[in-house]
Amino acid sequence: MAQAQNQAKTGIPNDLEPYWMPFTANRAFKARPRMIAGAKDMHYIAADGRKLLDGSAGLWCTNAGHNRAPIVQAIQQQAAELDYAPAFQFGHPKAFELAARVAALAPGDLDHVFFCNSGSEAVDTALKIALAYHNVRGNAGRVRLIGRERGYHGVGFGGIAVGGIVNNRKQFGALVAGVDHLTTTYNRAEQAFSRGEPEWGAHLADELDRLVALHDASTIAAVIVEPLAASTGVIAPPKGYLERLRAICDKHGILLIFDEVITGYGRMGYAFAAERYGVVPDMITFAKGITSGAVPMGGVLVRKGIYDAFMKGPEHVVELFHGYTYSAHPLACAAGLATLDLYREEDLFARAKKLEPLWIDAALALKGLPNVLDIRPCGLCVGIDLASKPDGVGKRGLQALDAGFFDHDFMFRAVGDTLALSPPLIVSESQIGEMFDKLAKVIRQVA
Ligand SMILES: Cc1ncc(COP(=O)(O)O)c(C=O)c1O
Repeated sequence: MAQAQNQAKTGIPNDLEPYWMPFTANRAFKARPRMIAGAKDMHYIAADGRKLLDGSAGLWCTNAGHNRAPIVQAIQQQAAELDYAPAFQFGHPKAFELAARVAALAPGDLDHVFFCNSGSEAVDTALKIALAYHNVRGNAGRVRLIGRERGYHGVGFGGIAVGGIVNNRKQFGALVAGVDHLTTTYNRAEQAFSRGEPEWGAHLADELDRLVALHDASTIAAVIVEPLAASTGVIAPPKGYLERLRAICDKHGILLIFDEVITGYGRMGYAFAAERYGVVPDMITFAKGITSGAVPMGGVLVRKGIYDAFMKGPEHVVELFHGYTYSAHPLACAAGLATLDLYREEDLFARAKKLEPLWIDAALALKGLPNVLDIRPCGLCVGIDLASKPDGVGKRGLQALDAGFFDHDFMFRAVGDTLALSPPLIVSESQIGEMFDKLAKVIRQVA
């Protein structure tokens, strides 16, 4: 009883131990919990009632802002009307409607959608489709997958294998065989404090030619990259890099997958970054912004030729032996449709594009603050590298996170000692100013 009263007073559960938190320093969190109890539009509400400015759209996902009424209502109505329908051998109307809406947003002939429940599932689905595509076309020898250093493609075995983050890989054994990596496009000496896409680095795409020379094109199924690598600190593609990658893939019959789990749904000022860069990949993975984070959902956009390659043989036979119980879950589809309506009605992708110059100026104005090694704004996001403390990588980043949360009513991402911002696309000009003012205070505080 006393315990219950305590919880009612602080908003913090008395027993934090049983929950093993993902990608979190559990002991540090449980010693000083950053507990969130509510949200509305651009703000979170902490358990102690404080209103916190959301500088990271949750985890790069609440692009339409929090608890938006049309999305909330759509989810409520759907839960009352159809809670669940089997995803295999049955369908429900909103799954087809949402696939059509997503395809209409995508460039070129990316006009088929395979649904799943997260970015990680989307990545593993895309990799499997790539392998199966070559297989059904009689090229079963094309089994190699190529990712990139500093790439983040979620946490499935496929995703960590093609991903390029050592901490995400080193504890998990042999991963998937036959994977190779391009080098990262980040080079601080050449690119520090770039406004958007750096001028230097397009030639790094030619690495793919080197890997083809090493492995032979006949063994390579697909290349997967994030158009802008967000999770490892917002690394924008060098000007011309993605075009060159596309050309090399075409030359060798290699599929190109853009992982747009973060860059999709407006973050880069367009429905997909593919449009910003004028490059049509063979598949696009998406998640997060499709429902503005309100219900888990992910998916893979696939070019017509890939889908068609499977639609052969006897009609009673399953064409792709892959799927999830919750593929195209009715609640996710309802949330997705309402979210896409909101993006359209409020023209949020164009809004992000319009705000980008202001965003870049405000971000780069932090240059010169203590320990700031680089600032990389592009689209409506930015990565800021801080020098590590002598006594441990990641300490300054975590201190910054705490300072933001507890002292400045501000939330953002900290990955190691890199701080990342990616606000909801409804952010106002004055809120952008407020964010960077707060961030400057945080950076000074952890100097
Ligand atoms: C590019 C990219 N791919 C995949 C993922 C994994 O998504 P999820 O956490 O929904 O599995 C993420 C998550 O941040 C991501 O940024």
